[in-house]
Amino acid sequence: MTIYRCRVLDTPDNPFTGGELRAHDDAGIAVEAGTIAERGDFRTIAERRPDDEVVDLRDGVLLPGMVDTHVHYPQIRAIGGLGMPLLDWLDRCALPEECRLADAEYARSVAREFLTGLTAAGTTTALVFGSHFSDAVDALFTEADRVGVRVTAGLVTSDRNLPEPLLSTPARSYDEGRKLAERWHGHRRLRYAVTPRFSYSTSPEMLESGAALAADVPGLWFTSHINENPAEIAAVIDQFPGSAHYLDTYHRHGLIHERSVLAHNAHPTDSELALMASAGASVAHCPTSNSALASGSFPLRRHLDHGVTVALGTDVGAGSGFSLFKEGLQAYFMQQLLQADGVPLTAAHLLHLATRAGATALGLDEVGDLSVGRQFDALLIRPTEGHPLDVGLRHAESAENALAKIFSLATPADVARVWIGGDEVSA
Ligand code: GUN
Ligand code: ZN
Repeated sequence: MTIYRCRVLDTPDNPFTGGELRAHDDAGIAVEAGTIAERGDFRTIAERRPDDEVVDLRDGVLLPGMVDTHVHYPQIRAIGGLGMPLLDWLDRCALPEECRLADAEYARSVAREFLTGLTAAGTTTALVFGSHFSDAVDALFTEADRVGVRVTAGLVTSDRNLPEPLLSTPARSYDEGRKLAERWHGHRRLRYAVTPRFSYSTSPEMLESGAALAADVPGLWFTSHINENPAEIAAVIDQFPGSAHYLDTYHRHGLIHERSVLAHNAHPTDSELALMASAGASVAHCPTSNSALASGSFPLRRHLDHGVTVALGTDVGAGSGFSLFKEGLQAYFMQQLLQADGVPLTAAHLLHLATRAGATALGLDEVGDLSVGRQFDALLIRPTEGHPLDVGLRHAESAENALAKIFSLATPADVARVWIGGDEVSA
């Protein structure tokens, strides 16, 4: 039994519906078998539990572990391809690299780099876009299981409009997906997601094979891309002439429900937002990716007005790294630039989008904030002495201001320690 003595910030109450940042300057968080058993003023908790070991974290700021709701495992080496719109970037940067994961040894080394990328940034939970190659997806799950990160992922499926090595068939995708799902779905912290790359690269038969897998293995998740870029949307509508809209290409196969997370949605129609809300599907907003590819500005206000759950994703490798702090800051910039159409975001909103909202989108009630009953998934921000974030935190005028400094300045180099389910992740 351990008591973490700390300065802690989290957002159990949604700031988009009136909740406020929860801040404790000298908290005691008692953890038993990975679960938060008690939380309160340090002195009170310590008096009640005199035999517990005390870990003093007051040289930093404790936050809930970050939740990344959209990140591509095979794209870590593709980060930094600037200057192209989506479909060119896929052809020139992402897809050639993804072809290399056909080599299982190559995939294993990428999986190790990828898990390090997540944990070094303080990400403890992620919905991961896998690979088109089944052995590479197996390598991802194996490495995630070893490190202990909560990963939901799946075999990426496609049968048209991509380089030939990335194409499969509906029957083969079903068989490979089923083997992976049977091996990994529900194994410790891991879950399986049916993952068509996007409607542009999948026939209706391929989408139907994903639906069949979801029907045969209960509780699977669904993730894909949607409404990212005008040229992509036009190409999808062209390929699915009978569809009401982009979302309908998935919805008509029964793939849109409360376990569905759709990435981007920068250009939705009102009908799509209404359908997402009524189905309980969530959206992964990926601000650095949308900015780098000039995909468009995310209409957060319209998502909120329709009652669609929005969380953050890094979208590595179109996104520019694994840090949810950077994504939060870019989300803030984007809403500022939208002026009257934007949502003025506070630091509390950003923390919520990067933690609790992600946990909600992924149906993981056990994580997302540091309340009693949740798992102890946490990160410690401890900047280098004398660096701007260190100066900022020492001179912050309020908890909200300290958090704004963290979102403005923190990088993975400032994430000193990370815990998942009470276990410290080794560097
Ligand atoms: N749409 C289909 N594939 C991708 C991808 O790898 N990245 C992004 N950003 N969009 C996609
Ligand atoms: Zn993506």
